[in-house]
Amino acid sequence: MLTHRKVTTVVIGAGNRGKNYASYALQFPHLFQVVAVAEPRKHARERIQIAHTLSEERCFTGWESLAEEPKLADCAIIATQDQQHVQPAVALAKKGYHILLEKPMAVTEEDCRSIYEACREAGVMLAVCHVLRYHPPAKKLKELIDSGVIGEVVNINHTEPVGFWHFAHSFVRGNWGNKKRSTFSLMAKCCHDVDLIAYWMGNKKCVRLSSFGSLHHFRNEKKPKGAGSHCLQCSVEATCPYSAKKIYLDPAPPEPRWPMSVVCDIEDAPEGYLQKLKNALETGPYGKCVYDTDNDVCDNQVVNFEFSDGATATLTMVAFTQHTCSRKTEVYGSLGQLVWDESKGHIIQHYDFLSRESKIHQCEESLRAPPNWGHGGADFFLIEAFVKAVATNDKEYIISGPSVSLETHLLTFAAEHARLSGSVVRLDKDPRWIV
Ligand SMILES: NC(=O)c1ccc[n+]([C@@H]2O[C@H](COP(=O)([O-])OP(=O)(O)OC[C@H]3O[C@@H](n4cnc5c(N)ncnc54)[C@H](O)[C@@H]3O)[C@@H](O)[C@H]2O)c1
Repeated sequence: MLTHRKVTTVVIGAGNRGKNYASYALQFPHLFQVVAVAEPRKHARERIQIAHTLSEERCFTGWESLAEEPKLADCAIIATQDQQHVQPAVALAKKGYHILLEKPMAVTEEDCRSIYEACREAGVMLAVCHVLRYHPPAKKLKELIDSGVIGEVVNINHTEPVGFWHFAHSFVRGNWGNKKRSTFSLMAKCCHDVDLIAYWMGNKKCVRLSSFGSLHHFRNEKKPKGAGSHCLQCSVEATCPYSAKKIYLDPAPPEPRWPMSVVCDIEDAPEGYLQKLKNALETGPYGKCVYDTDNDVCDNQVVNFEFSDGATATLTMVAFTQHTCSRKTEVYGSLGQLVWDESKGHIIQHYDFLSRESKIHQCEESLRAPPNWGHGGADFFLIEAFVKAVATNDKEYIISGPSVSLETHLLTFAAEHARLSGSVVRLDKDPRWIV
């Protein structure tokens, strides 16, 4: 059993992600303790207060009032929405909190750099929640690449299949559908994937990139004839795969869970959660026609990378897939290939060109994650590593630290710049993209 000194934390933003990381303290109370929460939504704040037995004066309605207090804990979990990362991250780093920061770090290059600088100047650790770096199959792939079993890496082909209904939920109707409210979809969804490609490529630096993409489908002109503005009153609902009725109600699970829990605060529904859900779908954004909302982010995008030694990589983000976020990666080397297809489980297939034999590598590490942790258990491995780093004052446990995270966020901004400007971006020539 893992042992180290107990680490204390404050939780900033107790929505889906904040609640998720805080639960590590409930499962491992000898290692981690939540000592305060900042959250404007009463129900979400009280949920943390009750679960972690916090006194009233340790419950704040926002990070701003918590930051006025003397330092309350070793670290801060910052899990507010994308555009609300920079201010609490900078303020709490300056107060001496080690920071666990949800991705994206921030939505502009300038703000990402401010967070990086604030943490560096304050001498605090920063872990960005690039959870997939901590995912056992992603780590195993890295280990195999670094061991040289496939020789020199020449090309990586990586796909993020967002999932047709998941895209409609999060990136059309939901929090990440509009750039002004959050950020562009490559950043919101695939800063993880850009980061993974850089992680697997190791010391090779990306020198050039290009990108194409569009909002192809979820546009007003694609609205079927006769469709209404809300799915529950739509005459062609039965023929629409993106119908809110199909996504949230057919059938609604007996207990509230994601994604229904995002539609409304259904845990706090005296009229019963099904009724509250239906009411929210009748009038709220999650019941709107997908061809009739204010979404403007790409539903498909490709990025091409060229590395310093001439190796290449391609990233495909696409909404229109059966699987939801089951990434597929092929790594082609001079002596063999490695394939990780998450829809098939936590295994890596290795084909060796010399022996012409295939071998399957199982990721036993995955079994260590307790059940129900997100991203196939990766969320657990991230919080475990961060807490261990704080407890032992050893930043080596953090593999998504400030420099690599800033570097891969800049790569993601550069990719979007390439898409918008229709140009090939030279990363080695422009200080805008260099850490
Ligand atoms: N690492 C990943 O793979 C991953 C996955 C999903 C989401 N995310 C990111 O995590 C972040 C949070 O996402 P979520 O789904 O939990 O969102 P959420 O909306 O459920 O939670 C955000 C919370 O912040 C609270 N908040 C708003 N203003 C605040 C303030 N001033 N002080 C304190 N709290 C405040 C909101 O009330 C809300 O409860 C986002 O940036 C998102 O992009 C990361």
